[in-house]
Amino acid sequence: MIKLAASVLSANFARLEAHAREALAAGADWLHLDVMDGHFVPNITFGPAIVQALKPLRDETGAWLDVHLMIEQPDLYLADFAKAGADILTVQVEACPHLHRTVQHIKELGVRAGVTLNPGTALSAVEEILPYVDLLLIMSVNPGFGGQSYIPTSTAKIARARKLLDAIGSSAWLEVDGGVKPGNAAEIVAAGANVLVAGTAIFHGDVAANVRAFRQASIGNVSFRTE
Ligand code: DX5
Ligand code: ZN
Repeated sequence: MIKLAASVLSANFARLEAHAREALAAGADWLHLDVMDGHFVPNITFGPAIVQALKPLRDETGAWLDVHLMIEQPDLYLADFAKAGADILTVQVEACPHLHRTVQHIKELGVRAGVTLNPGTALSAVEEILPYVDLLLIMSVNPGFGGQSYIPTSTAKIARARKLLDAIGSSAWLEVDGGVKPGNAAEIVAAGANVLVAGTAIFHGDVAANVRAFRQASIGNVSFRTE
């Protein structure tokens, strides 16, 4: 099943819950929450309070809160995000000198563990940790902002990541984030991704039509929620 994760960074923050609800009602599966601290990336977004604010919507719909931590020293905040209701906590390998310990910490909190790497970081940086994770996220833009263009070399990296996961028999999700559109979704899924993150392609304009466009992008049996 291919999952569609709506990145709320591109939603209208003045009506965040309603806009997120619209994306789920249209068929998105998860809510992707981009946490940025102004240090790891040149932007600041939000913290555990927003995860907490969206938890009732998550409990009502079953849509996972897929939290992407673009922050320095994530270990200091994992418990707060877990308590706020995160279903997945994904850390940037570039911010985790003790990645195995960080992943264990996330799992000890009862949360699914994800790791992600920037476009310029080699896949080898996650090779040792793959057997322990529930999700591998391939960044297809340089993190920090929505609305950027998909970096074309990401497709080959996704295919190599798929091979690595299959080689160890991992059932981890392979998620792709950044510049994902209906126009490149089929290529990304064909390379082996099974979770697509989309921000501007969902929240800018008509949300229902945008989600439908992903459905029609012939990416196999996309799992859409039917309200
Ligand atoms: C970028 C974030 C992405 C971004 C995706 O740092 O991690 O999740 O919000 O937005 P689009 O789909 O517009 O590239
Ligand atoms: Zn993200």
